[in-house]
Amino acid sequence: MRHTLPPTVLTIFGITGNLSQRKLMPALYELERQKRLPEDFRIVAVFHGVPDVESVMQQTELQILRDHRDFDPDILASLRRFLVPVQMDSTNPDDFKTLRDCLKQLDEKVKHNRLFYLAIPPDIFTKVIQNLSSVGLNRPDLGVDVRVLVEKPFGNNLASSQELIKDLSKNFEERQVFRIDHYLAKETAQNILAFRFENPLVEGIWSRQFIDHIQITMAESIGIQGRVNFYEHMGALRDIIQNHLMQLVSLILMERPDSLSAHGIHKEKLRLLQSIERIKPQHVDEVAARGQYVGYRDEVAKEDTRTETFAALKLEVANTRWGGVPILLRTGKGLATTATEICVVFKDRLRAGSNDNLLVIRIQPNEGIFLKLLAKRPGFTDRLQPVNMNFLYQDSFSGTQPDSYQRVLIDAMRGDQSLFASSEEVTASWELLQPVLDAWMASDGSPELYEKGSWGPKAAEQLAANYGCVWFNPEPVADEEAAHPVSN
Ligand code: BG6
Repeated sequence: MRHTLPPTVLTIFGITGNLSQRKLMPALYELERQKRLPEDFRIVAVFHGVPDVESVMQQTELQILRDHRDFDPDILASLRRFLVPVQMDSTNPDDFKTLRDCLKQLDEKVKHNRLFYLAIPPDIFTKVIQNLSSVGLNRPDLGVDVRVLVEKPFGNNLASSQELIKDLSKNFEERQVFRIDHYLAKETAQNILAFRFENPLVEGIWSRQFIDHIQITMAESIGIQGRVNFYEHMGALRDIIQNHLMQLVSLILMERPDSLSAHGIHKEKLRLLQSIERIKPQHVDEVAARGQYVGYRDEVAKEDTRTETFAALKLEVANTRWGGVPILLRTGKGLATTATEICVVFKDRLRAGSNDNLLVIRIQPNEGIFLKLLAKRPGFTDRLQPVNMNFLYQDSFSGTQPDSYQRVLIDAMRGDQSLFASSEEVTASWELLQPVLDAWMASDGSPELYEKGSWGPKAAEQLAANYGCVWFNPEPVADEEAAHPVSN
């Protein structure tokens, strides 16, 4: 039996693009396999050229096989019947009348909620928003809702993100806008609040009294995988820290919300982001480090590129719970392994900098939580040895968990904004990072080079050392391929 979701039409702008082919269509296939899509469902696929639905389906099949998922041609055929192709130029306002007519036709028997998924390059983003609204497609109707799903990057800096927010808010209400940060939809990220607030043992030690510092590492062994244009405009700070890592920071450090409603969570996340100390321009070199892997210049065919493929940052929260606790963030491509981990290092008077007492929340892969504690070695000795207590999702919970894009799609169909970033959070995060971006832009220096397969530039080690910390490196992954759930 199908799960009950309201009748929905999902319009995908960018159906032939990388994101749709690698993430959205496979996620829709999986949802169809689990019979989680609404009984009354349509996917309006926007093609710029002559619609080629067969090629979209073939690409979806290839991606499912690449992801090592079971492939069933009947399920793909069943997904295929939802697809309604439309040929239009998304930058041409007149073409939106065609789209409006198509949606009207689909509403003849049953009225549908309308979801517009903007899986398109940021430069045409505003145009599409304006075009939707020019033909009235932004307006909810009696009993049916209209939502727009937007992918990061939400701008390229503080000023451009403000522009985007303004353009969006002129045409859509905040409750209609779903800003996707797929890290928030990862099962392990969702568990952070439950783990923190539902276990008195954890809640009791979650403060500067017991915690020495916190590290968050998002490492990828892959390079930029041919996304030259995208990455040259981004760099690691914008691509990962501004969104995914700042969202993890807010979940790890925020206060308990009044309620677990979208509003309650957004309010506390924002409060936390706003209480992070501003970085002064003269301190950027002390609190931020950047690097570039050897070979990147050839890949982008730009000898003098200064784009960073690695970034590290130290933050500090100015509140009574966290004052004085360094929060260290790092991310990079071409690193020794692929893993995202949050490492909470406890205060240890005798062994400062030892990393022997810590708790690691493994966001991916090998999702789980482990504690490293000291125990006395057995036998005629007083010597201590670090030992691990390990919780693995795969051992404790049976069945496969929905991947982040399945979750994003279902929550958007339900109208639940809890796992999406609010405009204020996006702004707060850009405000924090802007001084670093400005300083790097103004500096004559270049990012420090590092070898692929290493843990990044020496400057990152120095950054941690400035605060008496040593990076805790995630274990290498046995099956590297499994660790790359393909980037969007
Ligand atoms: C994306 C970034 O947001 O996240 C990519 O643009 C990165 O550069 C990807 O590879 C990583 O996502 P995941 O889910 O594979 O960790």
